[in-house]
Amino acid sequence: MSTKTYEALAEFFETHQQNLIQFYPGLTLRRLEQEWSLFSRITSQPLSLFLQKLKQGIPLAYISGSSYFYKAEFFITPDVLIPRYETEILVEMGVKEIFKIAQGPNSIIRIADMGTGSGAIILSLLQDCTLIKNQIEATATDISQAALNVAKTNYDSLRTHLASNHKLTFLHADRLTKLSTPQQLIITNPPYIKAKEDLSTVHPMVKKFEPELALFLKDDEYENWFENMFIQAYNLLQMEGVFLMEGHENHLPLLSKIAAHCGLSQITIHPDLTGRKRFLRACRIKE
Ligand SMILES: C[S@@+](CC[C@H](N)C(=O)[O-])C[C@H]1O[C@@H](n2cnc3c(N)ncnc32)[C@H](O)[C@@H]1O
Repeated sequence: MSTKTYEALAEFFETHQQNLIQFYPGLTLRRLEQEWSLFSRITSQPLSLFLQKLKQGIPLAYISGSSYFYKAEFFITPDVLIPRYETEILVEMGVKEIFKIAQGPNSIIRIADMGTGSGAIILSLLQDCTLIKNQIEATATDISQAALNVAKTNYDSLRTHLASNHKLTFLHADRLTKLSTPQQLIITNPPYIKAKEDLSTVHPMVKKFEPELALFLKDDEYENWFENMFIQAYNLLQMEGVFLMEGHENHLPLLSKIAAHCGLSQITIHPDLTGRKRFLRACRIKE
C-alpha cells in the first residue's frame, strides 16, 4: 500500500471514528487497511468508493466481497448471509457425524445442506473430510438462485482443497423438496428469526443490509414452515440418519417438540459458546 493511501485511510479513520464504531464495533486502523487491501484486490475500485461505503455502514464483508469462515475465505455478496462464527459449531457437529457415518457400512455418504447461502457450511464440511475414503455425494439447496450462484463460485475456488471423490451439486429448491435419494446427514442453518416478535433483537445494520430471505420468517407461518421442513427431513433421512439445525434460542424448545411430532427421535439441544441453546440434533430411528 502506498504511503499516500495509508495516510488517507488513517485520516479517514481519525475523522470518522465515532461513526465507524457504531457500524463496526472494535474496528481498528489495521483492520481497515486489511479490508481495503481485500477490496482493491477483488474490485480494483478507487479508495474514494471504499470510504463512501464505510460511511454508509455497509458490512465489511459486503464491501470487500470476502469473509473468513471456519478454515477458508469465502466470496460474499449482498445476496447471501455473512457466515457467523457460531455456525462453525454446527460445522464441527457435522464433521463429527460424518466421521461416525464413515465407520458404518455405507460406501457412499449422502449429505444435504438446506439453505446453503454462500456454501459456507457444506464446503467447510467437505474441506474437513478430505481424509474420508468413502465417496461423498453432497447436495446444497437454496430457494435463492442468486445465493446458489455465490455458493457455486465458492465451490469453484475451494475445489482444489476437496477430495476428488467428494462431489457437490446445487439445487434450486424450497427446503428439501426435489431431493429424493435417502441422506445420512441433513444439516441446515435456516432463516429462524420471527419477523415481528424478534425484530427488536436484530441489529439495524443486519436488517438493512443482509437478505431478508436469509433471516426472517413470518410470525404466523413460523411453526408451520418448520413442521413442513421436519416432515421433509424425516422422509428423506435414511434409517439412523442425523438431522442438525441451527436455530433461535427462544424457539428451539417448541421446534424440538414439533420435530418429535414429525417422527424425529433422540432430540437434543446444544449450546453455543455463550451457553445459549442454539443447535438441534435429531435422528430418524423408526420406519
Ligand atoms: C440463515 S441463511 C444461512 C446461509 C448459510 N447456510 C450460512 O450458514 O451462512 C438461510 C439461507 O436459507 C435460504 N432459504 C430461505 N428460505 C428457504 C427455503 N424455503 N428453501 C431453501 N432455502 C431457503 C436463504 O436464501 C439463505 O441462503
